[in-house]
Amino acid sequence: MIRSLLLSLLANLCCIEVANAMEEKDKIIIAHRGASGYLPEHTLAAKAAAHVMGADYIEQDVVMTKDDHLVVLHDPYLDRVTNVMDKFPDRARSINGSKRWLAIDFTLSEIKSLSATQGFHFEGADRSRPVADYPNRFPIFKSGFTVPTLSEEIELIQGMNHSTGKNVGIYVEIKAPWLHLNEGKDISKAVLKTLKEYGYSSKKDKAYVQCFDAEEVRRIHDALYPELGVDLKLIQLIAPMNWGETLRLIDAKWQPYDSTWLFQPDAMKALAHYVDGIGPWKSLLVSDESKLGKMEFTSMLRDAHAAGLQVHPFTFRLDSGRVPAYARDFEHLLEIFLFELGVDGVFTDFPDRALAFLKNTRPQTSN
Ligand code: G3P
Ligand code: CA
Repeated sequence: MIRSLLLSLLANLCCIEVANAMEEKDKIIIAHRGASGYLPEHTLAAKAAAHVMGADYIEQDVVMTKDDHLVVLHDPYLDRVTNVMDKFPDRARSINGSKRWLAIDFTLSEIKSLSATQGFHFEGADRSRPVADYPNRFPIFKSGFTVPTLSEEIELIQGMNHSTGKNVGIYVEIKAPWLHLNEGKDISKAVLKTLKEYGYSSKKDKAYVQCFDAEEVRRIHDALYPELGVDLKLIQLIAPMNWGETLRLIDAKWQPYDSTWLFQPDAMKALAHYVDGIGPWKSLLVSDESKLGKMEFTSMLRDAHAAGLQVHPFTFRLDSGRVPAYARDFEHLLEIFLFELGVDGVFTDFPDRALAFLKNTRPQTSN
């Protein structure tokens, strides 16, 4: 009797160990816009570097061109990461009072004629001097980079998977579906069709689909997945409403979609009916009172895990001023989120550092 009790206790202990190890192994490192801490975001070079570094997933933000091609670009506009304003000075639109060069107003061949670079903004008295958003990263407008199509990028990742024997996944964000639909372009359908053509169609495939627009996420699950015969892992991105990630045309003016419900106590339970996880801005998981040595967390992660959802916050950066005061350094920030709080993965511009952190501090079971 005692022997069988001991055996059963031992078996349980083994299971606990395996479960914990599995949980750690399952934490994923997502290369945010590629290895964008080292090379211009969303260029094929940044994606190849992330693959070599061993990222679990590489992120694509996707927008559509005038002639219905899908390109990998963080913003619906081209003017933060290309020389579009020099090459096509008269092709800007006025959006809520600002001049913007939208990808949707350019053909793929026009976009391919542009030089891509690290993100920049303008400074100086007449705001004419371009300055890198991150001064210690790859210099702006050096070397030769272009904006890739989604197909080119998938072929790069699948090609490198073939040549290295790895199985690096894709993590595809459908950008501003509200803007595309307003222009008569169903970007979500186009993205899902492309993913299916390249062999990504079920939750077993190494691919996630992510979107900020909560109504579009619902449409993707309820209408587009059944229509296209696709059932990919789906992530609801969450950001503060005043970021304007999701807009609606109200009284001829673009205004923020009211996402208050995403922050209510029952939101995670409601989301769990149709998504696999959430991708929140990392500060939404941490209480404002948090200080170095005294972390306090919001209920978002707990609620999400209780509802069975994965949690992949963004964005973990080590540039000057980008590590919050409650963390000593980048690695401590990762420790707080991955192990103190217990998120299931992180989006980072520095996948090599996050992978080294995971390997050195909590050895993975295999790989
Ligand atoms: O998609 C996750 C994260 O990338 C969201 O932030 O603005 O960099 O696309 P953003
Ligand atoms: Ca993104």
